[in-house]
Amino acid sequence: MAFATRRFVRAASSSSSAAAAAAATAAAKKLLVKHVTVIGGGLMGAGIAQIAAASGHTVVLVDQSDEILKKSTKGIEESLKRVTKKKFADKPEAGAEFIEKTLKNLTTSTDAVAVVHSTDLVIEAIVENQEIKNELFKRLDKFAPEHTIFASNTSSLQITQLANSTTRQDRFGGLHFFNPVPMMKLVEVIKTPMTSQKTFESLMDFSKAVGKSPVSCKDTPGFIVNRLLVPYMMEAVRLFERGDASKEDIDVAMKLGAGYPMGPFELLDYVGLDTSKYIIDGWHALEPNNPLFAPSPLLDKLVAEKKLGKKTGEGFYKYK
Ligand code: NAI
Repeated sequence: MAFATRRFVRAASSSSSAAAAAAATAAAKKLLVKHVTVIGGGLMGAGIAQIAAASGHTVVLVDQSDEILKKSTKGIEESLKRVTKKKFADKPEAGAEFIEKTLKNLTTSTDAVAVVHSTDLVIEAIVENQEIKNELFKRLDKFAPEHTIFASNTSSLQITQLANSTTRQDRFGGLHFFNPVPMMKLVEVIKTPMTSQKTFESLMDFSKAVGKSPVSCKDTPGFIVNRLLVPYMMEAVRLFERGDASKEDIDVAMKLGAGYPMGPFELLDYVGLDTSKYIIDGWHALEPNNPLFAPSPLLDKLVAEKKLGKKTGEGFYKYK
C-alpha cells in the first residue's frame, strides 16, 4: 500500500512536472498582445477599444469616417467617466489620471491598411455581413505582419468562413464580447479546427488582460450564450403567438420564477428585433428542419413595420 502510494506520488509528481514543462513551452510560444487594432467604432468596437486601452494596450480604432470616429471617441470618454466615478469614487485625482492614461493609449484612423502593419491583434467589429467582413480580412491579410492574430466579434457568422478569406487560418479566432462591453464580464473565445493552440491561448490571455472572464467554444452557431438565449426568446414569442400567455406575464414569470434580470420580450426589445430576426433566419437557412430555429411570423411582422425595439421607440413594448 505504502509502495503503491509512493509510486502514485512519484507518477503524479513526474506527470505534473511534465504538465508544467508543457505549459511553460506553450506559454513561451504565446503571443503577448500589446498593440491592438479595432475595426468598427460602433456599439461594440468602441467598447472593445475602451477596455483594451484602459488595460494598457495601445489601440487604434478604425472606422469609415472621422465623424463616426468623433462620435465613438465621445462615447468612450463618457463611458470612462461613468466607470471612473464607480471605480475611483474616493480618489478623483486617480480617476482623472486613469482617464488621461487610457485616452493616451487610444488613437483613431480611417485607413485600416495604413495602421495594421504594427499590430499584434486585429479585432473586427464591423457590420454583420459575411461579404463585407471577408473583403476586409482578405485586404488586411496582405498588409498585417506574419505574427498578427485576426479575431472577429461576429455574433452569428461562422468564424471558419471568415478565416478562409485569409491565408492565416491558424492565426484566426473569434472574440465574442457582450453589450455593453465595459460592463459585461464575459468573452467567448472561439477556436475553429484551424486555430492553433498558440493563437487560442494568446486570445484567452488577451481576454484576461482586458479584465474579462473568457470561456471557450467551438465554431458552432451562436457559440454558447446565443445558442441558448435566441431559441429561448423565440420560444417565448411562440408561446405568446399561440395565445398561451401575455407577453407581460411571460416577462414577469421569467423574472420572478427563473430569476432572470429581464423577461424575454424586454430582452428582445433591448437586443433589437432586426438583430434577432437576422440571427434566427441565418440559422434557419443552415438547419431548416431544426424547430428551435424556426422563424416567427410575429417577429417578421414587427420588423417589417420597423418596430425594432428600444432603438426605434417600439418593439414588443412602446418606449417614450
Ligand atoms: P454598429 O452598427 O454599432 O457598428 C458597426 C460599425 O462598423 C459602424 O460604425 C460602421 O461605420 C463600421 N463599419 C462598417 N463597415 C466598415 C468597414 N468596412 N471598415 C471600417 N468600419 C466599418 O454594430 P455593432 O452592434 O457594434 O456590431 C458590430 C459587430 O459586433 C457585428 O458583427 C455584431 O454581430 C457583433 N456583436 C454585436 C453585439 C450587440 O449587442 N450589438 C453583441 C456582440 C457582437
